[in-house]
Amino acid sequence: MTKLFIRNIRVSSINLYKNYTTITKPATSLKINDKEFVTDDYTNITPKILSYLNRDLHLKKDNPISIVRQRIVNYFYSSFTHGGNPIFSVYDNLSPVVTTKQNFDDLLIPEDHPSRTKSDCYYVNRKTLLRAHMTAHQSELLRSGLDNFLMIGDVYRRDEIDSTHFPVFHQVDAVRSQRKEQLFQEHSGLELFEPMFDSKNPHMFENSINDPNKQSCHSLEATKLMETQLKTHLIGLVHALFGDNVKHRWVDAYFPFTHPSWELEIFYENNWLEVLGCGIVRNEILANAGPNNTIAYAFGLGLERIAMALYKIPDIRLMWSEDSGFVSQFQNKKLNEKITYKAVSSYPQCTNDISFWLPSDVTIDTFTNNDFYDLVRDVGGDIIEQVKLKDKFVHPKTKKHSLCYSIIYRHLERTLTQAEVNKVHKEIEKAIVKAFNVVIR
Ligand code: PHE
Repeated sequence: MTKLFIRNIRVSSINLYKNYTTITKPATSLKINDKEFVTDDYTNITPKILSYLNRDLHLKKDNPISIVRQRIVNYFYSSFTHGGNPIFSVYDNLSPVVTTKQNFDDLLIPEDHPSRTKSDCYYVNRKTLLRAHMTAHQSELLRSGLDNFLMIGDVYRRDEIDSTHFPVFHQVDAVRSQRKEQLFQEHSGLELFEPMFDSKNPHMFENSINDPNKQSCHSLEATKLMETQLKTHLIGLVHALFGDNVKHRWVDAYFPFTHPSWELEIFYENNWLEVLGCGIVRNEILANAGPNNTIAYAFGLGLERIAMALYKIPDIRLMWSEDSGFVSQFQNKKLNEKITYKAVSSYPQCTNDISFWLPSDVTIDTFTNNDFYDLVRDVGGDIIEQVKLKDKFVHPKTKKHSLCYSIIYRHLERTLTQAEVNKVHKEIEKAIVKAFNVVIR
């Protein structure tokens, strides 16, 4: 009996163990960008979210996010130079998988801060997450010896999906640091730090943020001059993006990693729109990462917000659209060109190609595309969403020139049938034969 009992216990404990391993560890690892991560009770990243990694909207040439990125980078490149060279370095290719140390600890974000919760972040495991802000890279870049830099990329926050919120968006974050001689070029004799503060040993002097005007280690002169520069540079940026007449206001703010801190709002389309957060970098962060004889400002701004306001894009999800009705509105534009997004219908597109031989006195280079486009619109009307050149061809023997265009049809209020599209397409063919003396292939 005793034996059996013991045996029973042993058997059931083996079963328990089995259950334990299968129930609490369904998948023990997760592969992200070819790197294996051990999962745990913090893992809450979903396959859907993982599918947004590597989309790199901020680097896709004609995406509005990327257009705004280029305009911001150009502003910093052209406004801050030394001996003709830009002083800001740009990091736009840093992996979004970061440690909790990078995203929180290095930035003095308290252990119990709500931004750390599982309900706010996408955790890979307890120690690893998808960065919730680009500031996550600030310390490592400072540690590598950089003083002026921009960090640009995708950030991940758990959020509802609606017209202005999406769990993935893009930020530009920046740090500009200066030594005493740089900041006080025109006022030598002034100091960055309070006399009591030994910058070689920042721990000697307890640095507090109790005074709303400055960190206790910094001199008031240094803080005020940095504040003026920070605000001037950011207003310059806003003017470069939105024009010189845009109204703005500064609002006092709080971030664990800067003090003092502000938010900048602009008055756009009858609303105050918060565009960025900024402040003077907490000296502990600089000292921990290396430079202990500089003062720095930092800021972070959201690219989607700015792109949506600038180009009147009504829904943040459109940024991810690969629908040519959206994409084409931002293609082949000059960087500072005024673009106003026009809503495209959600009904499906229908694409028909049209190919023709040009008459002998016209070549693929002298044929006027715009004339063709106008004619297509004249005949097809509002259901023409787009016309684009698909192919140019010169016959090797006959030397005849041929062009091929795609015409994209879409009705704003209903689904077009292929039959009715074909009918319009035929009429377009007839019209171009008549107008341009071409031969349909
Ligand atoms: N990281 C902050 C955010 O995501 C923005 C910020 C960056 C604020 C740098 C101050 C300094 O909201």
